[in-house]
Parts: sequence; C-alpha cells; structure tokens
Amino acid sequence: MEIKDIHTFSNYKDVIIKHSEIDINVDFDKKIIFGKVSHLINNKTGVKRLLLDINGLDIKNVTLGKQEKDTSYNLGKHISYLGTGLEIEIDSHTKIVNIYYSTSYNALALQWLEPRQTSGKIYPFLFTQSESILARSWIPCQDTPSVRFTYNAKVKVPKMLMPVMSAENPTEKNDKGIYNFSMKQSIPSYLLALAVGDIVYRPVDDRTGVYAEPSVIDKAIYEFANIGNMVTSAEYLYGSYRWKKFDVLVLPPSFPFGGMENPRLTFVTPSIISGDRSLTNVIAHELAHSWSGNLVTNATWNDFWLNEGFTVYFERRIMEKIEGRDYADMLIYSGLQNLKHTIKELGQDNPDTMLKLNLENRDPDQGMTLIAYEKGFFFLLLIEQTVGRKNWDNFLKKYFNTFSFQSMCTEKFIIFLKKELLNKKDKWYKNIDINKWVYKKGLPDNCPKVNSERFKKVDKDVDKLKQGFPVFELDTNLWTTYEWLHFLHKLPRHLTINQMHDLDMAFHFTKSKNKEILCVWLEQAIENKYSKVYDTLEIFLINTGRRKFLVPLYKSLLKTEQGKLMAKDIYKKARPNYHYVSTSVLDKLLEA
Ligand code: BES
Ligand code: ZN
Repeated sequence: MEIKDIHTFSNYKDVIIKHSEIDINVDFDKKIIFGKVSHLINNKTGVKRLLLDINGLDIKNVTLGKQEKDTSYNLGKHISYLGTGLEIEIDSHTKIVNIYYSTSYNALALQWLEPRQTSGKIYPFLFTQSESILARSWIPCQDTPSVRFTYNAKVKVPKMLMPVMSAENPTEKNDKGIYNFSMKQSIPSYLLALAVGDIVYRPVDDRTGVYAEPSVIDKAIYEFANIGNMVTSAEYLYGSYRWKKFDVLVLPPSFPFGGMENPRLTFVTPSIISGDRSLTNVIAHELAHSWSGNLVTNATWNDFWLNEGFTVYFERRIMEKIEGRDYADMLIYSGLQNLKHTIKELGQDNPDTMLKLNLENRDPDQGMTLIAYEKGFFFLLLIEQTVGRKNWDNFLKKYFNTFSFQSMCTEKFIIFLKKELLNKKDKWYKNIDINKWVYKKGLPDNCPKVNSERFKKVDKDVDKLKQGFPVFELDTNLWTTYEWLHFLHKLPRHLTINQMHDLDMAFHFTKSKNKEILCVWLEQAIENKYSKVYDTLEIFLINTGRRKFLVPLYKSLLKTEQGKLMAKDIYKKARPNYHYVSTSVLDKLLEA
C-alpha cells in the first residue's frame, strides 16, 4: 500500500534516519538553541541526496561521516506552513550526516518564558511543542510520523536550570549545566520534546513521578497521586507499558494544550490542578497515547483519528476502571454533546467531519478538530458494542502487539479490523458500516446511544430551578466537575443579571479554582453581559495559554461590538503570553 505523507519534504521512502545524536546549547539571552545534530541514516535505495525538513533554522554547515567531510547543501522553496526542504548531497554509502545549526528567534515550536511568566517568578523557562509539524523548527529532521528513530542528546543549559526531554531524564540538577539523555525506543519526530526551567522531581512510585517548578510540586504531587494506579489499570487492559517510566511535567500556564503525550514525560497544563483530582482524565488520556499514538503511530496527519480516537476510547476505559461506569458515562455523554456541537459548527457537509482527513495544501493543525477525538471514539464504541467487549479487547491487544513501533494508516487498520474481527460475522460488518464512519461526512445514524444516570439527576435539578425552586436550596454536595459542567451547559442560554448573580452567590463560580468550570461560567457570563466577571475574565485570558479555553471565550466576546473592543484590548496584553499554537488560531479570529 503506497501512502505518502504530504506534510514532509523528506525523501523518507528512499533514505531514513535510524538514530540521532543531538548536541545542543540552550541560550536564554539570545533565545536560541544552537549546536549539532548527527543523523545515522539507512540509504535504502542508494540515493545521492538526503532531504530534511526545516522551518526557520539557520544552517551553518553540513558534513558527512565521523571524519566530517564537507558536503554541499541547498534550501528549497519556502512554503508558509511547511517550512523549507534542506537538500544535502550524500553518497550511496554515507552513514552519518552532521548538521550545525541554530534556531531562529521566533522558532514556532519553542516558547521562551520570562521569569514573570512562571510560577516561581525568578528563572526563565523554555518548552517545546512539536506535534504536529513543528519539530522542524528546532531540529532539522525527517518531520513525518512515518519515520521512527532513537536518539541521544547532550544539552547545555544555564546552571540554575534543569532540562528534561522525552527520554531518560535526570532527577536532580548538576553543577555543570550539562545533561545527557537517551531515548532507546524509537519515536517519530513529533514526540521530540525538551523543557528547561527551575524544575524539581518527586517520585510517586518506582516508575511514575512528577516534575514541576518548586512552588507547584506539592500541589501537583497531591493532584496526580493516582498515576501509578493509572498505568497499572492501562496495562491490565492493553498489555505491558513499553516505555519504562511514566512521568508528568507540569508546565507554566502558557502551555497551549491540556496535555501532550511526550514519551516517558507527559507535558501537562497547570490548569488541570484543581485541588480535588477531578481533571486527571487528561493524564489518563496522555497515558493512553503510550499505546495509541506512541506505539502504533498515525502514518500521516490525515490518519490523526487513529491517534486520538483510540486514545479517547482508551482514556474512558481507564477512567471507567478507576472511577466506575457511571463516571465514564458522564464523560461519554459530554463527548457526544461536544461532537454534535462540533459538527454543527463545522457544518454537516464539511469534509473535515470525516474521520479520514484530507489536509492537502493546509497546515494540519487547521483540520485537526474534535472529530478525530469524538467521532473516532464513537466509531470504536460502536464496534465494541457490536462485537462485545471481550472480542474487542482481544482484538485491540493483538493490534497493539502486532504493530508496535510502527506507523499505521486508516486503510491498513481497516484491513486488519476486517480480517481479525469483523469478517467473523457478516452481521457485525453490516451493522457497523465502516465506510459511513470513515469516509462520509456528519454523524452516522448508527451512532451508539448514550445515557448518564448522574446527569439525569442534574437535569431534574435544572428543571426544578426553571420552575422557581430556590437556587440556594439545591443539593449539590456530591457533584463532581462533570456534573457542574453539565449543569452549566443545561442552564438556559439567556439569564437575567439577577439570575446570574444568584447562581454566583450560591455556587461561587467566578471564584472557582476549577478552570474547566470557570471557563464555561465565563462564557455564560459573556453571553449575559454579567459584568461582575469582567476582571476575572481579563485575568484568566492573560494568564492562561490553553487554546481550548481561549478560543471559545474570545469567540463569545466577538459576538457583540462592545465585546469586540474588550477582546482586542485584552488580546493585546495577553498575546505575549501565548504559544504559537494558540496565536496562530487567535490572530485569525481577532484580525477579522
Ligand atoms: N496530542 C494531543 C495534543 C495535540 C493535538 C497537539 C494535535 C498537536 C496537535 C494531546 O494528546 C491531546 O489530545 N490533548 C488534549 C487532552 C484531552 C483530550 C484530554 C487537550 O490538550 O485538550
Ligand atoms: Zn490526545
């Protein structure tokens, strides 16, 4: 089967990188990373050139072999969202290619934080975000999920700081500021990751632990006390954890995602530290990627649902095992609401509502929506419900074992699914209708029905309120974050200022330490011009970089003329705190 990744300049079908030796310096004054990377290559077809991806890199010199023989190189044409191809002359027997380079001031993957943007306020911080095609902005590489390589790295940093990577990590600072890393399992480039800051480590057990700034570590270790248990639960479902350690790094608040599944070291936003361990499904999600994504990897970004759909399915199985069926049902119910909302926003006939994407001529990030996550999830849930859990789990175990450390495209998955599972019973195959889910738009009519007992109780309470029951007398003692979120979503969109005020007095939403709840409340408040939240809103937008929160809040503001002015004013102040991943979307929204 010939599949080609359309988001790489590299000639990876002819020659592939097997291993990289990275030797870099992190310069916080100039805000650049510079140094050398040596790629060990396998020239399968004996070609005379190696094509790599770069974006904004300054290439100083390229040499071949241990003897460092000079060779010539060229830069190809620049394409805005792809960067540039770096074409290096090699021999058919070349084994090592050395590249001396430096990143540019505004390297897209990197965010350089001033001390004031950290929790401790004393030291600067740097982190990378390579998925989907940003690794090329800090390391010249074959930036495609179809190529896997191992790596070693030597990283020099200012002495007060410690670097950590998606690799075997130090647990303490040393006095030289030079650290050695090794990643012995092969990974695709989008899982290359580095963070540098005033970071400390605290183990949870032998194979799990937490990295964070000193002022965050206590809260973080309390919040994530359950990660050892999560890994064990995940293993029980889908086979042994293959990456030895599972540590979590808590980043400063500008981190643009909830979490990023960098192998051995998941990156997370501090906004999941709510004080009551109620947002740890993000950790379950990133852990789940240790199988779906990191072990069996989407071959191209068009197959993104193979990474995220499987991971959401797996995340919910882990949460079910830990918190029970009724808890997982709340997550699933919310998932379906979000899916319907996304399809409505994109439009029924939008091709981006198909599982198999067509991201040709676009930045993959533009087409990566919740569809991959939730439509992917419901497709897999339908298969589970059709064939029964036992058959499905056996199939999944086999799938991960058969294709571990390989890339996978949608078509290859479907062939394996038919051969190993669906062909066993004709009615299974007919009932599921793979084609409709994968290659057709919108929400298929055989989407599983969902039901949440706990949400039904909340619905009853909302009905009571609508009939005049006093807000203050509602019994919400046993509610978790998900019941609160459901409650907020179920409230009528239009409320009077008095009603907003009463809700706020009864439940202290504006003061909520739970960022998920606060975000939905702020949205509701913007809709209803409940001006008491405006200060909180501004502070929230300035201090949070998580795109999932920023986009809906700015969108709500932009609906009115007055809101537009406010949004633009706040954005001016807040933008320096955001990573490129967030500004790339917000710039478009706010310029319009
Ligand atoms: N791998 C993704 C983050 C990502 C997606 C980065 C696309 C770049 C391009 C990560 O695993 C993720 O899905 N994070 C979610 C977590 C949530 C679904 C629990 C997030 O950040 O919101
Ligand atoms: Zn994910």
